[in-house]
Amino acid sequence: MKRFLIAGNWKMNKTAAEAESFINKLKEKKISNEEEVAVLVPFTDLYSVKSALSGCGIKFGAQNVHFEASGAFTGEVSVPMLSEIGVDYCVIGHSERREYFNETDETVNKKLKVLLEAGITPILCVGESLEVREQGEEQAFVGGQLVADFADIAAADAAKIVIAYEPIWAIGTGKTATPEQAEEMCAFIRGVMEGLYDGVVAESMLILYGGSMNAKNAKDLLEKPDINGGLIGGASLKADDFATIAEAAASLS
Ligand code: 13P
Repeated sequence: MKRFLIAGNWKMNKTAAEAESFINKLKEKKISNEEEVAVLVPFTDLYSVKSALSGCGIKFGAQNVHFEASGAFTGEVSVPMLSEIGVDYCVIGHSERREYFNETDETVNKKLKVLLEAGITPILCVGESLEVREQGEEQAFVGGQLVADFADIAAADAAKIVIAYEPIWAIGTGKTATPEQAEEMCAFIRGVMEGLYDGVVAESMLILYGGSMNAKNAKDLLEKPDINGGLIGGASLKADDFATIAEAAASLS
């Protein structure tokens, strides 16, 4: 049976009160595969989301973390802080963080390690720009990100990381990768994991697609053999659309 993860990346959207009312709306949808659904929310929403989700199988998480446990890092949040709240997931290396906040493969690698040590599942984002794709270099680029991001991570830990392929040209643009383009890259990513580790690790990993996934196109993407779900931005902010995407996954598992 194929495993899925349908994860909503809220980015910088929703106050704590808005988050609570959204979760209450989402719960009313009675999503049939709650255990395979997660919301990734701003730090300020973590407590209200946790409490609104009580008694429900939907998971939750953060969108970033610092790699140090504590110290003079104004404005940052550490793994022990997230652990105490009890988050399930944390997004790492989103292209917006790489572009606007100087996230590098080196900091991504450090963050993956501290999250794994704490038992929080990282959702690692990789993906190429339009320029790189137009040069036909997308596999070399994504492969390079993966090698650097997984440096010195043992197989048992690597298997726990969720990878999200998010082509930058498809994020927030309404220009989704075709199911074939998304499948091609997700299969390539699985192949890179097989090369770095082995076939068992590669097969066990969840590899998601992200970039303008919505209620209409989700099923065609999720049907592809190497796509285990979605990391959804805009469409995850609407309870109806997000629930429809989750049900598309449920119908395929
Ligand atoms: P959109 O779904 O809004 O394109 O965002 C995708 C994304 O960046 C999820 O992390």
